[in-house]
Amino acid sequence: MFFARLAFPADFDGWRQAARTALALGIPPEEMSFVVGDAAPGLFAEPLRDALADAVQPTVSKAFPDLARKLVCHANADRFVFAYRLLWRLQTERKLLEISSDLDVLRATAMEKAVRRDSHKMKAFVRFREVEDGEGGMHYVAWFEPFHHVVELTAPFFARRFTGMVWTILTPERSAHWDGSDLTFLPGATKDMRPEGDDVEALWLTYYASIFNPARLKVKAMQAEMPKKYWANMPETALIRPLIEGAEAASRRMLATAPTLPRFSHQRRQERERMAKATHDEPNLDLENGADDARPDSIAAARKQARHCKACPLWEPATQTVFGEGPQDAPVIFVGEQPGDQEDLAGQPFVGPAGQVFDQALAAAGIDRRQAYVTNAVKHFKFVPRGKRRIHQKPNMGEIKVCRWWLDLERELVKPKLIVALGATAAQALLGKAVTIRDTRSRLIDLDDATKLLVTVHPSYILRLPDKAAQARESEAFNADMAMVLHILPELAMAV
Ligand code: URA
Repeated sequence: MFFARLAFPADFDGWRQAARTALALGIPPEEMSFVVGDAAPGLFAEPLRDALADAVQPTVSKAFPDLARKLVCHANADRFVFAYRLLWRLQTERKLLEISSDLDVLRATAMEKAVRRDSHKMKAFVRFREVEDGEGGMHYVAWFEPFHHVVELTAPFFARRFTGMVWTILTPERSAHWDGSDLTFLPGATKDMRPEGDDVEALWLTYYASIFNPARLKVKAMQAEMPKKYWANMPETALIRPLIEGAEAASRRMLATAPTLPRFSHQRRQERERMAKATHDEPNLDLENGADDARPDSIAAARKQARHCKACPLWEPATQTVFGEGPQDAPVIFVGEQPGDQEDLAGQPFVGPAGQVFDQALAAAGIDRRQAYVTNAVKHFKFVPRGKRRIHQKPNMGEIKVCRWWLDLERELVKPKLIVALGATAAQALLGKAVTIRDTRSRLIDLDDATKLLVTVHPSYILRLPDKAAQARESEAFNADMAMVLHILPELAMAV
């Protein structure tokens, strides 16, 4: 009997190397065992010797490495030997994985599915809580208890999704840590290390309540999708009972109130009148809930204050205020329209699909986004719910006007040489009147004595174009506008 020692419970690289060695030495699966960490091997097991240098590499079908990567994440104690058994059989049964009635293949398929499902649950049910890191920054920490060993498999998803944050996911067995550029894995943690509720939790509760549609409530399906095991770590579960209990009454109320709403044209008029009364001399902060109304003297202070803004009705269904981002001494401000669905959740501008087009154009022009300040004309996501989706709605004149208080403050604090309006809404917010892209695009306009304005299209416009040729043409024109920005402001060039 032989054994190989692996570093941690889902150590795929360690397993692969040991499995290759065992295969080269001709050790059958029944004589092979694997131990993790300091665990003791079987009484009569010998450590695996190094394979001969000229040993033949195993041949496997294309699908096997990916399958094996998931198998070693399964909670079964014999997962490593089982994966090795499949590898062993594949040497003589090349098409084994295509035989869906084979018992090993059936088992592998079920194990892979269980691991995929657990990884999916981790992506869906991890909830970060905000903790001050003691150096003026924020650290986001979550506690999660996966069923299988899926931390290594799933952590890269969070690194891609929350690239700009410093976060740690604590689990009983392994913890994943992202410092903004590197993903590392640490030992497991205990439940008492998980942080308590915070601001992020309040945002998430707002979001959850805003997408909860009482008319579509299916309690059984909801409980099947979100098993009770995960409830303890999910703040919104405290809302589930009252939401379920209130759902029937809320549905009845929705039906009863629908016919009494004013006609759409009247609603529009009421909205216009309300907005016309609103002034943008002050931001209308929610002082009762901890807002400080002193005029902010830095972008960081402004961002903090803007969290409490209730100047227009958009704050209520939105998850959070999405304030501008970038250095306070940036030479340029890019202004979009309003945050989209992903920005609303992440709390950062231009991180969704439009953000990708924007990033690509900046990269094509050689502009370093980190040296620019990026914001929106309106700081809350405006949407209408459709099922579980939230469909973007264009902000109206009133909303743009009210939110201009923040945009003006950002301009005053950053003092850029150039402002780039991405789309007509941004141009309208900056010029104080409706303009067309056709009339204003790609030329420098004096905004004030020290600041020029350059108007270009919104990146979403390119995404919405129906055919590839038009998209390619418009991307090129957009890239050319970005190149013009670099030409005007050479200090933005990407550091190579
Ligand atoms: N569209 C915008 O205008 N701004 C964003 O931040 C995202 C999408």
